Amino acid sequence: TTQVQHHAISVLRENDRGSYTVPTKGLYPFQWNWDSCFTAIGQAHYDIDRAWTEMETLFAHQWADGMVPHIIFHVEDDGYFPGADVWRSGKAVPTSGITQPPVAGFALERLLQKSGADEAARSRAEGLIGAIDRWHEWFYACRDPRGEGLVAIIHPWESGRDNSIDWDEAFARVPTEGVAPYTRRDTQHADPAHRPTKEQYDRYLWLVQHFRDLAWDNTKLHDASPFQIVDPGFNAILVRSCDALANVAAQLGHIEIAARNRALAQKGREALERLWSDRHGQYLCLDRTTGQLIDSPSIGGILTVFAGIPRARAAAICATIEKEESKARFIVPSHSVFDSRFDAKRYWRGPVWLVVNYMIASGLEASGQTAMARRIIASSLELIALSGFAEYYDPIDGEALGGKTFTWTAAVVLEFIA
Ligand code: DGY
Repeated sequence: TTQVQHHAISVLRENDRGSYTVPTKGLYPFQWNWDSCFTAIGQAHYDIDRAWTEMETLFAHQWADGMVPHIIFHVEDDGYFPGADVWRSGKAVPTSGITQPPVAGFALERLLQKSGADEAARSRAEGLIGAIDRWHEWFYACRDPRGEGLVAIIHPWESGRDNSIDWDEAFARVPTEGVAPYTRRDTQHADPAHRPTKEQYDRYLWLVQHFRDLAWDNTKLHDASPFQIVDPGFNAILVRSCDALANVAAQLGHIEIAARNRALAQKGREALERLWSDRHGQYLCLDRTTGQLIDSPSIGGILTVFAGIPRARAAAICATIEKEESKARFIVPSHSVFDSRFDAKRYWRGPVWLVVNYMIASGLEASGQTAMARRIIASSLELIALSGFAEYYDPIDGEALGGKTFTWTAAVVLEFIA
């Protein structure tokens, strides 16, 4: 192992709490859904048994309806807001009531590959196939009620890209009246100038209260939400995970699950084409409440390559990234540097996130765009060398931003170097 690999493993171990891993201590002291799946992929490089446990712990908290919540509150910790007392999901081990990008199917396939698919690995995989399949079914039943092949997020936190410029217009229509008084904790762990604003937090909380008033009933939440956004990046992750689950299910003889997930992936991939923008050379988000595409060139529409898109689209997206490269020293910024709303240091409004780079590079490689995939990986490793294992980075000067010694950053570095 090189020094960088050694360092990455030490970050993963430092944040390991035994059966789950925290994204970083202080700022995020519980288990987060998609963080955990990337963590498992990283752990598979040095401790495959621990990697399976990470995913099993997450799925032990799957809801009866099939949803896998975005936070599992394994311990009490008042250093985070909003905690279990705000969500009030009524679970034995408290959880949040919304979900996150479904990386699990992809992670499952990666773990099986890394473990050589021996007997032990096959049996651990067996334990997750049905659960991941139920989660995928939940998405299409509850978040695509009209069967369009595209699922919506109903809260910005579900996308993982909490304060993206993509949501600004739709989010302005979310009310703030009646939000109970609260004290933020995130701004005590990270620079407030690098985090979402107070106005955004009020609306995050309004949505949580609104869904809580509906008793977290997922047969109602989608239609009852004033915020319904189809994010191409989120959908691409779901499509890729459906394909990956289909591969694993076929390998282990689950013919029905394989066929269902293959069909879902196919339909989802075709539906993504409705979100393509020639003008921007990338995909865009769709506001389902207005039926309009959102004029906001963000990383969501670039990450779409992860789904396995047509080759001409992947080539166009490469050209778009090249243009960003002419102005940003580090790629890929989470929002176009050419947009006047770009903000180099504020969370998802400009900074580079290595976990997204990982998915983009993987998608580009699968589309034959290996040169750009390599440049993205090289840029990512340059950031590590310059600024360490940060949560996110300024694409102009490379400054480390947000939480430090960050788990998923370390996890994808192990993939980059392997
Ligand atoms: C946070 O608290 O910043 C998280 O992104 C919400 O999941």
